[in-house]
Amino acid sequence: MRRHDIPRSSAILTSLLALTPSAAGFYFPGVAPTSYKAGDNVPLFVNHLTPADSQSDPKLRSVFSFDYYHPQFHFCKPDDGPREIRESLGSILFGDRIQTSPFELKMATNESCKSACREQTFTDRDAMFVNSRIYQGYDLNWLVDGLPAAQLLKDPDSDQPFYSPGFALGHLDGESPVLNNHYDIVIDYHEASKDNFRVVGVLVDPFSMRDSKFLDVGKAECGSASNPVILEEGEGKSTVVTYTYSVYWIKSDTPFATRWDKYLHVYDPKIHWFSLVNSAVIVTFLIGMVSTILIKTLRKDIARYNRLEQFALEDFGANGSMEDGVQEDSGWKLVHGDVFRSPKNPLFLSVMLGNGAQLFMMTGLTIAFALLGFLSPSSRGSLSTVIIIFYMLFGFIGGYVSSRVYKFFGGEKWKLCFFYTPVALPGLIFAVFFLLNLFVWGRGASGAVPFTTMLVLVIIWFIISVPLSLAGSWIGFKQPIIEAPTRTNQIPRQIPPSGGYLRPLPSMALAGVLPFGAIFVELYFIMNSIWFSKVYYMFGFLFICYGLMIMTSAAVTVLMIYFLLLAENYHWQWRSFCTAGASAFYVFASALLYWMKDLSFGSWTSGVLYLGYSVLLSLLFFVLTGTIGFFASWLFVIKIYRSIKVD
Ligand SMILES: *[C@@H]1O[C@H](CO)[C@@H](O)[C@H](O)[C@H]1NC(C)=O
Repeated sequence: MRRHDIPRSSAILTSLLALTPSAAGFYFPGVAPTSYKAGDNVPLFVNHLTPADSQSDPKLRSVFSFDYYHPQFHFCKPDDGPREIRESLGSILFGDRIQTSPFELKMATNESCKSACREQTFTDRDAMFVNSRIYQGYDLNWLVDGLPAAQLLKDPDSDQPFYSPGFALGHLDGESPVLNNHYDIVIDYHEASKDNFRVVGVLVDPFSMRDSKFLDVGKAECGSASNPVILEEGEGKSTVVTYTYSVYWIKSDTPFATRWDKYLHVYDPKIHWFSLVNSAVIVTFLIGMVSTILIKTLRKDIARYNRLEQFALEDFGANGSMEDGVQEDSGWKLVHGDVFRSPKNPLFLSVMLGNGAQLFMMTGLTIAFALLGFLSPSSRGSLSTVIIIFYMLFGFIGGYVSSRVYKFFGGEKWKLCFFYTPVALPGLIFAVFFLLNLFVWGRGASGAVPFTTMLVLVIIWFIISVPLSLAGSWIGFKQPIIEAPTRTNQIPRQIPPSGGYLRPLPSMALAGVLPFGAIFVELYFIMNSIWFSKVYYMFGFLFICYGLMIMTSAAVTVLMIYFLLLAENYHWQWRSFCTAGASAFYVFASALLYWMKDLSFGSWTSGVLYLGYSVLLSLLFFVLTGTIGFFASWLFVIKIYRSIKVD
């Protein structure tokens, strides 16, 4: 987001959003600038290969990533073998595999046509493998001084050049796949003070040159790009390829602090603004409607109920027929003796609500942190690491909420509640995640999360999150029970049949679409960033959208519950959870739509992986929004029944 894209009128928003472009200016202590002297070695690290959209046909064809040193690529290795670079847990979980490389870059020293290693021979099987990766449009991801090696692209609308991380493994020349074996590495450097240089931009221009020859270690003779490398498939055929590179250092005025700006390009800032205004209008309308309906009618209802009450008492005093006045009243007051009756499966609901509260805190705090610039893309993997840390820590909230709610529901199996809260949903998520990874392993793509990382995750889960959750449960359990404002009758009341939009499915379909409406544009960009490995950083928008989504979920659910109670149906607990949670179905549907529009998988395995992660995401979203809906309704129900007098 550039500052000048923002209309001046919205001063508050601007100050919120203006934090985003300067995000790269904030640093964790560990991400301080590195200075080099001329001639110093600047390491180049390689990361996994990721699928990307090609320019000609912007569709994603695979979701697997590959290890850079997957043997069939025959990429050059350092003499003493590649070393793994230490990374954060989040970074590994989200697929990064960073390793050393044989490329030698010397600060401010131009070099042309160096060989990266001896000639490599591709057998026909290797050729088939690499060619199909080229068809699928895979990108190489390199890192120089923490910056991703990028391609220079132009925004079709504004003609502004920007850096798009990653560069192509190869391209299609007509029908034949061409492998890039030469890289022009163009590095922007900034002179901070005398003989004190910093890397502020990295571009790679890949070429394909069949006639390149290896001469000696580090020396080569580059061929011409008009004769490209095409790996030959077919029995017994093989192709010899020499990998070469040149390095160009270009002096730049960009200071270190703003070096990320050219990477963080917003394609169409208008669409974010449009969606924001759009959802703000929906929310205002909705909240306006809810408050008029509720405040006006409720006040009338309450006044009427209380008048009737008095009337009835006076009546009773006068001629002993108390029933007359009360008989006439209708609506939600009638169910006062049932509305706090424990729902079906109180244990299950409490556990879900605990987990939802945990997700709610995690999401809110992560977005707030990101908004304040703590999670800038310059500290790689910090976003995902922070998500995991917050999720683990908020196990405490999860336990606390679930045990308090369970106690309110009058549950007695509190040990089970203690146990299930930290285990059920996280266990399910982990199991699905694990299965999907088994799948990636099985397929031989090396982008799977390593087994050791999984193990670490389980261990810290049991060491940190489970005890915190148990502690939270215990503290919640020790708190006094939350008093319901009305007493529950012994015998459940009959529920009159109700039709139309109050039936479960229509009410869910109707209500779920609104919270989804508040976030769907940002959701689209988040999906883009997940599947196309792009940097997502529009946290200003996301923060506001999250807020709008919370308000919409709450408002629409309260409205539904009000109508439900008016129809004398007192099963509001699960209903409120599912009504708000229904937006998750829209999220899932949009994932399917996204698949149809932007993805085109060559193999069913990619599809399974995509579906698996979409289901997981939707499930979490269901629990999150459901929890918001439940607590909003809970507050509402307690409030309205507290304000009427019941004998
Ligand atoms: C390196 O080469 C580029 C392009 O040929 C040139 O613009 C730049 O000044 C050179 N840099 C150095 C340090 O010689």
